[in-house]
Amino acid sequence: MEVLILIHIEHLEKIYENVPGRVPAIQKIHLHINRGEIFGIIGHSGAGKSTLLRCVNMLERPSSGTIQIDGEEMTRLDARQLQTKRRKIGMIFQHFNLLSSATVADNIAFPLKLAGMATSVIGTRIKELLELVGLQEHAHKFPNQLSGGQKQRVGIARALANHPDILLCDEATSALDPQTTNSILSLLLDINKKLGITILLITHEMQVIRAICDRVAVMENGQIVETGNVLDVFLKPQHAVTKDFVGQVSDFGSSHEEDDSILRTSPRGKLIRITYIGAKTYEPILFQIVKSTQVSFAILQGTISSMKHVPYGQLVVELTGGDSHEIDAVITRLKQEGIDVEVITP
Ligand SMILES: Nc1ncnc2c1ncn2[C@@H]1O[C@H](COP(=O)(O)OP(=O)(O)O)[C@@H](O)[C@H]1O
Ligand SMILES: [Mg+2]
Repeated sequence: MEVLILIHIEHLEKIYENVPGRVPAIQKIHLHINRGEIFGIIGHSGAGKSTLLRCVNMLERPSSGTIQIDGEEMTRLDARQLQTKRRKIGMIFQHFNLLSSATVADNIAFPLKLAGMATSVIGTRIKELLELVGLQEHAHKFPNQLSGGQKQRVGIARALANHPDILLCDEATSALDPQTTNSILSLLLDINKKLGITILLITHEMQVIRAICDRVAVMENGQIVETGNVLDVFLKPQHAVTKDFVGQVSDFGSSHEEDDSILRTSPRGKLIRITYIGAKTYEPILFQIVKSTQVSFAILQGTISSMKHVPYGQLVVELTGGDSHEIDAVITRLKQEGIDVEVITP
């Protein structure tokens, strides 16, 4: 049986001892990343995201705690074992970290040479990788002849050179404009789908999480304050920091404020909020359910957005007519249809 969990982090702590005051960058983190998922970690600057990511491949040694990757305890590996293991963990960076004096092809060849690949086959692998990231025409250019997006594509090709199982992304799109960000995110999504590579990314931008992540953890002060499926976190953020991040991008991150403005219009009936996912529209279902009752409905507000290209949205619906039992029966029927219903009033 294939093990679902690929990265298992327990009781992780990292205290930087080299600075006055001993900065506790990571405090007691528990986290698991499933095989094949795109997992995002979001937090403000200084939250500890980079430290956490760098602990995963042991660029930073944890002060305590354990990190298992594919069942292997990273903190117990010796230097040589770690070198081998790291080949299966690619990493990309905000500022690309390319060798400026080497061509695109040589930048990509670097990890292949380190891994001892024969020169005769390196060329073939470079060609494959250039094709994967769409840089076939640029093999002999130097980094300063490339745009930011192209540089990150080189970074991605280099990170994937040795067929890693995991790709770590440290603010990989934070230095890019929105359009280029989208093209890099699409590429990451593509790589995840095509090659089945597990992606662990950190960012301070909620649109990055929304565009490609399956699950998200929110970090603050070296701790994870909230974890969940991206959709759940978007629709029902719990922690204040999460609400802030969701508010940055969500069309209904402020849905509760919107509730207030609807309430001020003093609706006559009962207000419910329906959350829906997928292309389905719930109007026909609502029609079907109220048809044989005295209840009627009005859609007061609707929002639609998309997450990983799946549409989702919320409707605020006012149910009027009938008596309260009949209205409750309608709500029960909606729930029986598998629809997420939240009663707003009364
Ligand atoms: N090499 C280091 N030495 C000392 N302190 C560090 C080092 N790297 C990061 N820190 C401190 O650890 C905390 C978390 O930093 P970091 O992991 O870079 O956060 P983020 O990536 O979320 O911005 C910050 O207070 C930062 O100043
Ligand atoms: Mg960072």
